Amino acid sequence: MEFYKNIIPPQSKVLELGSGTGRLAMPLIRENIDYHGLDISKELCDFSKRILNQIDSKKRIYNEDMRDFHLDNKFDYIFIAFNSFLHILTDEDAIKVFSCVKEHLKDNGKFVLDILVPDPDFLYREEKYRELPVMDFKDSKTGELIEIFETCKYDVDTEVCDLSWDYRYKDNPSYNKVFDYQMRMYYPDTINRLLIDAGLDIEDRFGDYECSRFNESSQLQIYVCK
Ligand SMILES: C[S@@+](CC[C@H](N)C(=O)[O-])C[C@H]1O[C@@H](n2cnc3c(N)ncnc32)[C@H](O)[C@@H]1O
Repeated sequence: MEFYKNIIPPQSKVLELGSGTGRLAMPLIRENIDYHGLDISKELCDFSKRILNQIDSKKRIYNEDMRDFHLDNKFDYIFIAFNSFLHILTDEDAIKVFSCVKEHLKDNGKFVLDILVPDPDFLYREEKYRELPVMDFKDSKTGELIEIFETCKYDVDTEVCDLSWDYRYKDNPSYNKVFDYQMRMYYPDTINRLLIDAGLDIEDRFGDYECSRFNESSQLQIYVCK
């Protein structure tokens, strides 16, 4: 969060793609940033609108697909934070996202993209580590302890990872929920190529939220483009 607060000057008009619950909205609005968010999920947009309506009635949240959106607004900054871009599974869709970004940037506007560097240890797990515990938490209503176990199947041809989160109730083994989703692994050379093909200029590339230069041991790839 500090990274986005530091990189975006106050008064800027900003659009977050994949804004989800609007978790980043409040801290940025408090910094006097004119925050707007866009998300494909109606449920999450309704949730974030409800929270943000407590501040003012300004239209800030758009229920749209980041691969195809056309707003009446242009922005000083557009960003996709914390791996939301990994929901974009193909090169074609990535180019569509970047083209929409370009269409919505003001003349000196900047685009910030923040994703992980694919990690072979995560992708090519040995069979015995196929299922890993990722976190546990207490159900806010019942107080029950819930553990989440993750399985990952990576397809080297599509570079798409099939992930499954299995929510298990510790004291109620017969009750569990499974959440399946996919994430595309973007290697640095692929992202470079896609950004350039979409007509964006890469100004900076950082390897962490402290703005260290990107290098071969970086775990993050954070692009600042114009
Ligand atoms: C991991 S969540 C991150 C939410 C938020 N950035 C945060 O850090 O709290 C990813 C979000 O991307 C959204 N998303 C996925 N595909 C999308 C698309 N094609 N267009 C717009 N939003 C999308 C999902 O609905 C989800 O809210």
